[in-house]
Amino acid sequence: MRIQALLLSATLGLGGCFGAPESAPEGAIDLQQTMKAMGREWKAINGSEDPLVVANHLATLHQLASDASRAMVRKGAQPEYEAAMNEFLEAVTQVQAAMASGEVEDLTSQLEALDALRKQHHRSFKP
Ligand code: HEM
Repeated sequence: MRIQALLLSATLGLGGCFGAPESAPEGAIDLQQTMKAMGREWKAINGSEDPLVVANHLATLHQLASDASRAMVRKGAQPEYEAAMNEFLEAVTQVQAAMASGEVEDLTSQLEALDALRKQHHRSFKP
């Protein structure tokens, strides 16, 4: 388990930075395309039992959610939307931190918690 944790830390990048290295270029975010990409990452995360594969896709999901947090949504909903996306980002970061310290046993319940957030926020913001 210790070696697995070390491997995960190396994959995720040291220094407490859990995001993927690349970020979207400056400018308007296409939320629909970003969400589609998040959907692909989410599918890959739930379709793998390999912690290294899951950790890599979680890093990409984190980066995409960070990009999505800069998108503009309908008038009046922006502050709530940004707060919701930040809550989701924080939850992803917690799963990444747990994995990096070798806590992979209850990964399923952690992913279920992320899925609950996804559903909750889709109910509020998805047109
Ligand atoms: C694991 C997390 C998530 C996944 C996999 C995901 C996936 C998706 C997918 C597949 C769509 C439909 C895209 C299409 O039109 O084909 C969508 C739409 C959307 N999602 Fe998410 N989502 C996630 C989390 C969130 C969160 C946390 C929020 C808000 C805080 C959010 C807000 C939205 C909104 C506003 C849309 C509509 C975008 C548009 O059509 O302009 N999503 N999402």
